[in-house]
Amino acid sequence: MGKGTIVIRNIGELATPVGAVASRGSAMKELRVVQDAVVAARGGRIIYAGPAAGAPRTDHDCEAVDARGRTVVPGFVDSHTHFVFGGFRDDEFAWRASGVPYMEIHERGGGIGRSVGATRKASLEKLVDTGRERLKRALSLGVTTMEGKSGYGLDLDTELRQLEAMRILGDEDIVRLVPTFMGLHATPKEYAGRTREYVDFVIGTVLPEVKRQGVAVFCDVFTERNVFELDDSRRYLEACAREGFGLKLHADEIERIGGAGLAAEMKAVSADHLLKASPGDIARMAAAGVVATCLPLTAFVLREPYADARSMIDSGCALALASDLNPGSCYSQSIPMIFAIGVLYMKLSVEECLTALTLNGAAALGLAGDSGSLEPGKRADLLILDAPGRAHLAYHSGMNLVETVVRNGTVAFRR
Ligand code: NIG
Ligand code: FE
Repeated sequence: MGKGTIVIRNIGELATPVGAVASRGSAMKELRVVQDAVVAARGGRIIYAGPAAGAPRTDHDCEAVDARGRTVVPGFVDSHTHFVFGGFRDDEFAWRASGVPYMEIHERGGGIGRSVGATRKASLEKLVDTGRERLKRALSLGVTTMEGKSGYGLDLDTELRQLEAMRILGDEDIVRLVPTFMGLHATPKEYAGRTREYVDFVIGTVLPEVKRQGVAVFCDVFTERNVFELDDSRRYLEACAREGFGLKLHADEIERIGGAGLAAEMKAVSADHLLKASPGDIARMAAAGVVATCLPLTAFVLREPYADARSMIDSGCALALASDLNPGSCYSQSIPMIFAIGVLYMKLSVEECLTALTLNGAAALGLAGDSGSLEPGKRADLLILDAPGRAHLAYHSGMNLVETVVRNGTVAFRR
């Protein structure tokens, strides 16, 4: 059978955003919806997606899948995760549940610092093994492309070990992986009180080695009061841009310090979290084409008000939604919960959520020309959902509807 050559027939509803760039503003709700559809792929790329009546005759050496009247959507793109880490912080979860604020735990040396300690102790093999389980779970939830960040090493060896774990897992190709270097996630304890010097160390020593080894595509920074202020963030991002990396920021999550504005100024690919971003900075992001990435599961776990995703879209931004899977602020990778929260609590339509988790997630990874929608020429990454229509993605709240995952034109998962 020709590799990546497949035909999916008897699709009750095909629902997909369209385009090779991020979908912005009011365009986000405009999906292409086809009843009684067929998708065909050859060599891992889509050659046809549309009405059954117009489908091409298929080669005899083609895998045939009967969707039995169900719904087909593009594979989900989870564009923001920290899935490679050692240890857990379930005790902190319990403290937070009883009322201790996230930043208070962070400032007492808990939080990210705890995971740094555990990750430094973890072997490469351990990081790969635990990471693999999280990737398999992501696949079973319909994720076909996933980003992963370093940032639990904060020293040369461990940052590189996290990135090496992602390189190994990327080669295993469970999902397509996009690696991000997050040298500025926190100031490690050996640099306590010397954040500036730590930033110098990252720029002067770690970043060039990450570049030399070719193990990251993006760079990210936790731009936050008492973590990395705007000036250190800018200095680091300028260095990352000079080295040719795409830029991402954790911006305006806990306090409004203008991280979203910095993302616009630096022409970052995305700015993420944005719970406290100002309307002016959101407008600047829209004008600069920065993908606004909201992480509803983190707000849910931290019991913070959700980011104002509605205004972001209404201001003309491209909105992406992602999990933020990490051992602290959000130990969840539940795509079904993202749909439920998006529609029930963030004033988004299911169509906007779908665009945010497919085409715009791809755009947040610089991949909108390659994946994130079901159109000829794009990668054949798609899901058959156990549902009669896309509305069920939110309506059947919190349930995993993914029945079959096709990656690169090959069935990668079946429930
Ligand atoms: O995206 N905000 C900063 N970083 C992560 C949290 C990491 C952690 O708590 O370990 C986030 O929420
Ligand atoms: Fe994050």
